[in-house]
Amino acid sequence: MTNTAVGISGFGGYVPKRVMTNQDWMEHVDTSDEWIVERTGIHRRRFAAEDESTADLAIAAAHSALESRGVSAEEIDEIIVATDTPEVYTPDTASFVQEGIGAREIPSFDLGGSGCAGFVQALDVAQSRVLTGTRRVLVIGVELISRLVSWKIRETCVLFGDAAAGVIIERGPQMAEILGAKTGTDGSQWSILTLEIGGTRKPFSLEYAQKEEHLKLIMEGRAVFRHAVHRMSQVGLDVLESVGAKLEDVAMIVPHQANLRIVQAVAKNLSVPMEKVYTNLQEYGNTGSASVPLALWEAHRNGRISPGDLVLLTSFGAGFHWGAMLLRFNG
Ligand code: ACO
Repeated sequence: MTNTAVGISGFGGYVPKRVMTNQDWMEHVDTSDEWIVERTGIHRRRFAAEDESTADLAIAAAHSALESRGVSAEEIDEIIVATDTPEVYTPDTASFVQEGIGAREIPSFDLGGSGCAGFVQALDVAQSRVLTGTRRVLVIGVELISRLVSWKIRETCVLFGDAAAGVIIERGPQMAEILGAKTGTDGSQWSILTLEIGGTRKPFSLEYAQKEEHLKLIMEGRAVFRHAVHRMSQVGLDVLESVGAKLEDVAMIVPHQANLRIVQAVAKNLSVPMEKVYTNLQEYGNTGSASVPLALWEAHRNGRISPGDLVLLTSFGAGFHWGAMLLRFNG
């Protein structure tokens, strides 16, 4: 163990009970199970109940991570929540999580708007907080997308699901040591993937509301596809290079679960067989900031990761932002 080692000491997650299948979507938009499966690989996703909100999902995931680590909420020293679908506009979701889990009056903040790259960015920030003296950080990725994206636009509505997942990190190699991380941004591409109504550029108005413009996720699907494949592949290679590791050394890649075709294209780009790539988007769809930690939590619980394995996380989201992290699992 080096004195700069930081590792994941607990994993947790939560998915809402309600299952929304591709057939269910046919009641809302002109689509089919065939189209959705062929173009995205998604079969079903979970949607939050009417009385559930973002903080409820995040708090449930936090409890699960605390239990996995075997610590109480009072033993957490900082909370970072990555989300694009916050509990309210102000204050941030982290405030609700701090209160909801019964944490002390610790620093708590959101990392919002990074789309599906939010969790890896947040984990990278959390790592630096631990290195500068914070003992134990809870990092949650959470989205409740079903409530903030139109159910009438077939190009986007079928892609997403609601979920929360997270980790606790602290000094030492722990269960999964963070060997390296890389993140990046290209803000020139913001308009290709955006939910733009409601901020200062385009404040919410009656006119927007009447046309349901505030629920319209603008997405140039094919351009997003291309950028996602390129960035997730490249940042994965960059983080490996930064720590002197090779792709052949990686036992498992846990990519952002955007859709199966994107994930397959990343695997092809990297010449990695799909058996080494973990996917659960078939069951949960694209859960934004929750997607990487949810897949990691599941892969770990399902025994798909063994002691000594190198696991590469790679993600991409609105902004555009991207990020990758290399982990080494221990006993
Ligand atoms: N059901 C049925 N037909 C549909 C649906 C739907 N849900 N959505 C679109 N179509 C139609 C289109 O209207 C179009 O019809 P037309 O030919 O009559 O005009 C046809 O299907 C083809 O549409 P394309 O957009 O060209 O389909 P494409 O093969 O590009 O697939 C998709 C669309 C799945 C969105 C793809 O572009 C993609 O995966 N892009 C990446 C986007 C993504 O993953 N976004 C998630 C958020 S960002 C992130 O996580 C990184």
